[in-house]
Amino acid sequence: MLEIKDLCKSYGSKKVLKNISCKLSNGVYGLLGPNGAGKSTLMNIITTNLKANSGSILWDGKEITKLGNDYRSILGYMPQGQGLYNGFTGYMFLNYIAVLKDIPKNLVKDEIKRVTEAVNLTDNINKKIGTYSGGMKQRLLIASAIIGNPKLIIFDEPTAGLDPKERVRVKKMLSALSKDKIIIVATHIVPDIENMAKNILVLKDGVLLKETKADKLIEQYAPNGNLEDVYMSIFASEDKV
Ligand SMILES: Nc1ncnc2c1ncn2[C@@H]1O[C@H](COP(=O)(O)OP(=O)(O)O)[C@@H](O)[C@H]1O
Ligand SMILES: [Mg+2]
Repeated sequence: MLEIKDLCKSYGSKKVLKNISCKLSNGVYGLLGPNGAGKSTLMNIITTNLKANSGSILWDGKEITKLGNDYRSILGYMPQGQGLYNGFTGYMFLNYIAVLKDIPKNLVKDEIKRVTEAVNLTDNINKKIGTYSGGMKQRLLIASAIIGNPKLIIFDEPTAGLDPKERVRVKKMLSALSKDKIIIVATHIVPDIENMAKNILVLKDGVLLKETKADKLIEQYAPNGNLEDVYMSIFASEDKV
């Protein structure tokens, strides 16, 4: 279980995350908020790429910053706007990630085969990444996030830059992931998580809304509507600024 306690983060004098607290157990969570809401900042703190100013994050009761290398095998991460080496093949990239994650050498080949099949890249895995379409690159990054079967997987804007067809494809892939782990999908695009995430973390002005159940949010903000209506109801005022 992942527990976030009273997390605060500022850039200079700008407070981006204000006393974020929540407990996540197995299942899919959509982290929803407009651009600039602080989603990537929060994901970067959960992945220990960034330090919070105060507060803590616990994995099964232990501070993640004290887990060291153990945390790397627990965590799978697809960062937003990740650069890929065009000169690498997909296979070389996944092999590189497998080494970083300390996946035992004798298991690496089978594991790469498994994740490559999961994202439908088997026919192209030995081609150079420079020849991949945007959708193929995103799918390769999904494969790199799920390699080693981590218990906590974070996807930051997984469909960014994709055309609608590729977007649907990526969403199907995320939906097919086993739910016996914590999956967080950070996005400002409601349809990316609609009907997939039963738990919705809404980040508004650096604060997490208390309610996290999608159906309860709909009841509260958009009776008879859908998650997109909830989003419009919560963030509508921001458009007018
Ligand atoms: N390294 C940084 N230095 C200063 N400000 C930053 C930095 N990274 C992000 N910000 C600011 O923090 C806010 C939240 O950014 P971010 O976490 O990227 O939001 P999101 O992922 O929800 O779009 C934005 O206003 C952004 O401009
Ligand atoms: Mg972001």
